[in-house]
Amino acid sequence: MKSRQSGYYKAVRRVSSLISTTDKELHEILDGIIRSTARAMTASASLLLLDSEQKNLIHVSSWGLPKSFILKGIIDPKQSLKEVVTGETVIISNVTIDERVQYPETVNKSGIRSVIAVPIFIDERPVGSIRVYTKEVYDFTNQDINFVSTIANLTSVAIDNHMLRDMTVQVRKEFKKEENLSLLSHARTATFAHPSEKEFSQILDFYNIEWVYEPSSFPVSWENDRITEMFTPDFYLPELDLYIELTTLKQSLVTIKNRKVRLLQRLYPDINITLLYKKDYDRLLQRFGYGPLAESRGHGISRVLYSSAEIQNRVNELAAQISADYSGKNPILIGVLRGVFCFMADLMRQITIPIGVDFMTISRFSSESISKINVIKDISLPVEGKPVILVEDIIDTGLTLNYITRHIRGKGVTELVVCALFDKKAKRIIEIPLKYRGFEIPDEFIVGYGLDFLEEYRNLPFVGVLGRNEKSTEKRPGKRKSPK
Ligand code: IMP
Ligand code: MG
Repeated sequence: MKSRQSGYYKAVRRVSSLISTTDKELHEILDGIIRSTARAMTASASLLLLDSEQKNLIHVSSWGLPKSFILKGIIDPKQSLKEVVTGETVIISNVTIDERVQYPETVNKSGIRSVIAVPIFIDERPVGSIRVYTKEVYDFTNQDINFVSTIANLTSVAIDNHMLRDMTVQVRKEFKKEENLSLLSHARTATFAHPSEKEFSQILDFYNIEWVYEPSSFPVSWENDRITEMFTPDFYLPELDLYIELTTLKQSLVTIKNRKVRLLQRLYPDINITLLYKKDYDRLLQRFGYGPLAESRGHGISRVLYSSAEIQNRVNELAAQISADYSGKNPILIGVLRGVFCFMADLMRQITIPIGVDFMTISRFSSESISKINVIKDISLPVEGKPVILVEDIIDTGLTLNYITRHIRGKGVTELVVCALFDKKAKRIIEIPLKYRGFEIPDEFIVGYGLDFLEEYRNLPFVGVLGRNEKSTEKRPGKRKSPK
């Protein structure tokens, strides 16, 4: 036991010096903590953090655990060892005969026998835990328990330090108020198999959407009782309870993936999974002037999708519906600049009941500066206790609207519905109910009537499809730059 004591001392010393380094990313520090802990205890160890909805525990770092164990699924803190719920240390001397274990079979197969789980607190709130696993049945001593608790405390210092490093007191207050620590986005180590996955994670980061890379594997085929095929979706978005599978342009792989996704959906009907094609997020990037398709600027309009008169008629119909539905309710129309200004101007002039109108502006994605979506100009009208109609030009992935609806809900409105002129339904990543829809449009990039591509075309009175030379822009190798 003496040797263990000195091992603990060394580990604590190493961890404390790690915490005070300023040149390391948080996930590197956390990996170091877990490795030191596991080594000092001659055991395996892991760090789990809650997602910001406090619904799932996610493996952020681990040492000495088999991959199957880490991928055993998103852990429900209410079902698993409850240290994160109760804030108390949990000790299990024999996992095979203890019903507090959420995945007894996997745990058993991994050869784990005893577990100690110690919660990590930030601002007195449990945010995750450190777990240590031994291969033999083991009775943890007081010394062991104290050691893991010390490590848990040091871990919370590391997280707190890191997250608050650049924050002013005011921001810190706001930050706590929102109760959205979003620890995961800082803490996880993701080694992406493909650059497009990294790009996609940056888009998610921009939209403040929490993600976990390759969170769990699902068995999809069996021979007798043996699993012969597993499927690991690329991303899991805990807040949306949504898995996302990205595909490449290779048609052969796309077909295989499609089949796996269909199998998954059939076998696990409760799972939400979206298949995203490479061209989908290339277009997502293109919209902001980045990515392989961005240079397709300047091809002009290939065809008119809706004439000025068609748009006008549909806008009038929407206005009539809104006038009827909201009679006596004094709703506030909120538009998200700038694409919406034509639509808003026409819509509100056809509404025949009293309304308020306001606008807001949000930041745009930029792959150069690592930015986050945020409100650049907020609405000025008070909306608390009032019904709000969010007016949007176009809904594509739904990522923007997801952020905006949350922001507006946070203002205590009585009702929030969405009215969008164009709905590119095929491209939806996040499903958002639309109460009023002008047109459902095909999967194409449209401009005009306020909508732009890199600030061009807003002043067209009609809506047209942006012409693109698909062949020369989508095949990357040997592609010639389009003339400026
Ligand atoms: P989402 O977040 O993917 O739903 O995108 C919403 C925003 O992206 C819209 O408000 C537009 O500003 C922009 N957008 C999406 N698709 C188009 C398009 O086809 N033409 C012009 N802008 C678009
Ligand atoms: Mg918009």
